[in-house]
This record gives sequence, C-alpha cells and structure tokens, in this order.
Amino acid sequence: MKLLEVNNLTMAFGGLKAVNNISFHMEEGEIISLIGPNGAGKTTFFNMLTGIYIPTEGSIVFNGKNITGTAPEKIIKEGIARTFQNIRLFPHMTVLENVLVGMHSRSHNGLFHSLFRTKKFYQEEKRNAYKAKELLATVNLADKCNEYAKNLAYGQQRRLEIVRALAAQPKLLLLDEPAAGMNPQETEALMKYIRGLKDKGATILLIEHDMKLVMKISDRIYVLDHGVKIAEGLSKDIQNNQDVIEAYLGKGA
Ligand SMILES: Nc1ncnc2c1ncn2[C@@H]1O[C@H](COP(=O)(O)OP(=O)(O)O)[C@@H](O)[C@H]1O
Ligand SMILES: [Mg+2]
Repeated sequence: MKLLEVNNLTMAFGGLKAVNNISFHMEEGEIISLIGPNGAGKTTFFNMLTGIYIPTEGSIVFNGKNITGTAPEKIIKEGIARTFQNIRLFPHMTVLENVLVGMHSRSHNGLFHSLFRTKKFYQEEKRNAYKAKELLATVNLADKCNEYAKNLAYGQQRRLEIVRALAAQPKLLLLDEPAAGMNPQETEALMKYIRGLKDKGATILLIEHDMKLVMKISDRIYVLDHGVKIAEGLSKDIQNNQDVIEAYLGKGA
C-alpha cells in the first residue's frame, strides 16, 4: 500500500530552491534512502514532511490524507516521527523520561487525567514505563534508564533518539544521518538494527551521506543534488549512474 506520496515539492529560501520540484513515494514496509552531497536539500525535505517548513509548492499525501502544511505536533499524531541530524534529546531528563516524552506525543491520556492524576493516569504511566524499558532494551540501553541523557556516550545518545521516535509508534520513521559521528562498528550495529526494524514491519526513510552504507540496506534510493532529484532506483542502478558519481566526486570522475 502506498504510504507516502510527495508531488512536485519545492522549498524556496529567498532565491535559493533548497528543494526543487521533487516527486517521491514510499510503499508500506520499505526502507528508502535519501542521499546526496552536503547542502543537497535532504534535511529540508524532512523538515517539510514533519511540518517544520511549509512547502512553497507541491503536496504531501500521507496514508491517504493531504498533510501539506500541517503543524509538527499534528504530524506526529498522523504517524510520522523523526530523529534529527544534530541530536535533540532532553539532556537534563533521564533516558527513561526521554522515551516517555516520545510516547506522550501520541498519548491517549487526556488533559483531565494528567491534571488530576487519576487512577487511569497512573495505570497508563506504569504501562508506558514498561513499554519504554522494552524499547530501550532493543538498543542495549535498558541499564541506563535512570541516567541523564547528557551523560550517555555519543553513540548511545543517537540510539536513544531513535527509540524516542519509535515510542510514538509511527507508521513512518525518518532518520536524519543516524550514523553520523559513529565509528564503523557502531555504524554496522546500527544498520543491523534498522534492518531488524524493517523485518518487524517498520517503514523507514533514511538520510545518509555515505553512499556505500545505504547500498546494502535500501529497497530503493533517491539521490538529490542542489535540491534536484538526479536519480532514483535500486542500489545497482544508482551505483553506476554517471550523474550520481559526478555529484559525489565532481565532474571528470
Ligand atoms: N532555514 C533556512 N534558511 C535558508 N537556507 C536554508 C535553510 N535551511 C536550509 N537552507 C539551505 O538549503 C540548502 C539545503 O540544506 P539542507 O537541506 O540542510 O541540506 P542537506 O541536509 O542535504 O545537507 C542549503 O544550501 C542550506 O543552506
Ligand atoms: Mg542534512
């Protein structure tokens, strides 16, 4: 089933078209990678999908609904969650609390129950804490529940961010360079983890700078350069595409 359909999306900042007339689609259960050199427009594309920027032109249809221009806190309720290129955890909250915040972004607990600390509120908090710990265990952070997020090692913080996004139970997970700054072993483990999410039915859109890295993991790849889509297709098609090689290595490569 088609989960995401983006039509002719453009984001202009003054005279600069950071994203220029991009069409794009994702089926449920796919891992799609969005690659391209620095400044290609990848993060800007995410920012439009998550309501941070309102597109200058074009439309975003998610799960059959037009969500173009919808605010970020509503987008997450529609079922799109993300991580950021630069880690954005709550540094002075514990690891567990960070995940609980992710859960609350889609919580059914109404304001009444939260304000008056009803029995229903406590029951749901208990359930949530249990679920959060289960999630943390999948990224080997179960024993860090009570640590402040700021005290985690860098690679652990990156994993915590993914788990926090997953806590919202998204239909679509957006990962913006999740392996940035990781060493090769951490990166390998992360890629295995992402693949595991797919095996459990997740739909994932991955931004990654490193072309080699995405080749193994992606069902399909889109390549941006200077805001324009220069290629799309299977790994093997992208690998040998002359425009892609030039975008990465310069003309004459
Ligand atoms: N809020 C903004 N205002 C002006 N220019 C922006 C803004 N956000 C991004 N850009 C510009 O858009 C282009 C694409 O940036 P970005 O989407 O971050 O690229 P990528 O994630 O592919 O490295 C860059 O030239 C960047 O400077
Ligand atoms: Mg970026």
